[in-house]
Amino acid sequence: MAEVIIVKDEDEAGEIYAEAVLRLFKEKSDPVLGLATGSSPLAAYRHLAKRLQREGINTENVRGFALDEYAGLDPQHPQSYRSTINRTVVEPLHLNPELVRVPNGNLDTIQTAGADYDAAIAKAGGVDIQILGIGTDGHIGFNEPGSSLASGTRIKTLTEQTRIDNARFFDNDVTKVPTHCITQGIGTILKARHLILLAFGEGKAQAISETVEGGISSFCPASALQLHPHATIIVDEAAGGRLRNKDYYKWAFKNKPEWQGI
Ligand code: GLP
Repeated sequence: MAEVIIVKDEDEAGEIYAEAVLRLFKEKSDPVLGLATGSSPLAAYRHLAKRLQREGINTENVRGFALDEYAGLDPQHPQSYRSTINRTVVEPLHLNPELVRVPNGNLDTIQTAGADYDAAIAKAGGVDIQILGIGTDGHIGFNEPGSSLASGTRIKTLTEQTRIDNARFFDNDVTKVPTHCITQGIGTILKARHLILLAFGEGKAQAISETVEGGISSFCPASALQLHPHATIIVDEAAGGRLRNKDYYKWAFKNKPEWQGI
């Protein structure tokens, strides 16, 4: 089972994420981070940036792989995931942009871009820590319900719900949200050595309940985390509001030996 941690807010979750990444950076000279867009990881990146600065840790060898990108959207567009990752991760963490990759959504090469991306991840030695958000329909990356749990990086069609959820980044105009994307597959995500999924707010409560305590099903893509040997799911009270075993998760985390980390 995944470890479930119930925190008071995004800052507490961010501190836990930053601590795990700091540990990794101290153990490994060329760590590989799996990166995600969306609002859920923002506090985590902020806390990580603060810790790196405070402890004077050099990040020039850190490599990164983002989960997904819109298909056919100019990478220079402010809402492309390339731009978003640059703004929210590369700049505040002072990473080398050349070592941080985002799937290539260029329509001319999209048929081979997925396999190329998976090969690049493998060549880098795999992802050490993958941060994840979750869609209201249980998607991770852009793996919408029905995605193969063994999938590699590939082109996908976005659901109407996801496009509505993401319209806020496109002048609240759903027609401006691209219809397709390229996303790491669930099989790709499961190869990362440690998964940390963050979810906040009541809007995520149903998806979290299905992810943690429902059956493993492509209908809730995040439920594939149950198959992973090292998955950590960090939620606030609202996102964890429908968990049946909430008291147990709290007790287990409170009584965990400090040396163990997450
Ligand atoms: C998009 C991204 C996902 C992200 C989801 C939730 O669909 N492709 O990676 O998890 O949004 O976003 P938020 O964290 O803003 O709720």
